[in-house]
Amino acid sequence: MSTPAISIEHLRKCYGDLVAVDDLTLQIERGEFFGLLGPNGAGKTTTINTVVGLVKPTSGHIFVHGLDALRDYRRVHRLIGIAHQEIILDGQFLNAREILLYQAGYFGIPPRRAKPRADELLERFGLWEKRSARVRELSGGQKRRLLLAKALMHDPEILILDEPTAGADVELRLQLWEMLQSFHRQGKTILLTTHYLEEAERLCERVVILHEGRLRALGAPAELRRSHHRERLEDVFLELVRGEQE
Ligand SMILES: Nc1ncnc2c1ncn2[C@@H]1O[C@H](COP(=O)(O)OP(=O)(O)OP(=O)(O)O)[C@@H](O)[C@H]1O
Ligand SMILES: [Mg+2]
Repeated sequence: MSTPAISIEHLRKCYGDLVAVDDLTLQIERGEFFGLLGPNGAGKTTTINTVVGLVKPTSGHIFVHGLDALRDYRRVHRLIGIAHQEIILDGQFLNAREILLYQAGYFGIPPRRAKPRADELLERFGLWEKRSARVRELSGGQKRRLLLAKALMHDPEILILDEPTAGADVELRLQLWEMLQSFHRQGKTILLTTHYLEEAERLCERVVILHEGRLRALGAPAELRRSHHRERLEDVFLELVRGEQE
């Protein structure tokens, strides 16, 4: 059996007195479409940032394809394409296409391969018309699209998307779902956070619900609905995070 795509083992992250993630253990299998759910401040982004080595755990370990996320930071970095929750695009003087080519350069992809790839992604994310626009000339949603294209530029094995559909219009949401499903069909791993529980239910094979840094539930959405005797995943979620009975 292959090692999991991502293995989180007793992860704990504290900021002073605040425990952002508390003893979180979970495995995401290779090829799995996995959802990380929880209310604002639950610890989702903190967890993701430890997986990509941006945040150092207070204790616990993270392995990506069996590699230690901290010690093997560089190799782990190559395996992952990430679109962060906050839209930060370095290179204010670069245009959309140049940002993608720059990203390719970072991963050592030669220009002859990078150029068609960038153009394909610009096309796919509806940015072709904006290929020569600088970042500051893009709308919020267009920046989100560029961020997603950038995450895919080096054709990663694992795609991590922190609220990719926040601020997305209907078309982008549909395009993104399609793109994610095709990525999934290629046998790649996806870790997604979202506040749209219907989206999670539609896309994810398994989800984890975090609340105040702790794992509250883990399983297939249908399984969670069944075991909690609820018709909607949203009701399971509310029960777990609010303690609501009805
Ligand atoms: N750099 C930091 N310094 C101090 N506290 C932090 C830091 N980053 C996160 N936190 C705190 O850790 C907790 C978890 O934050 P995190 O960003 O992981 O939540 P989240 O689940 O991603 O929420 P959201 O849905 O709002 O994005 C919050 O209480 C937050 O204030
Ligand atoms: Mg977050």
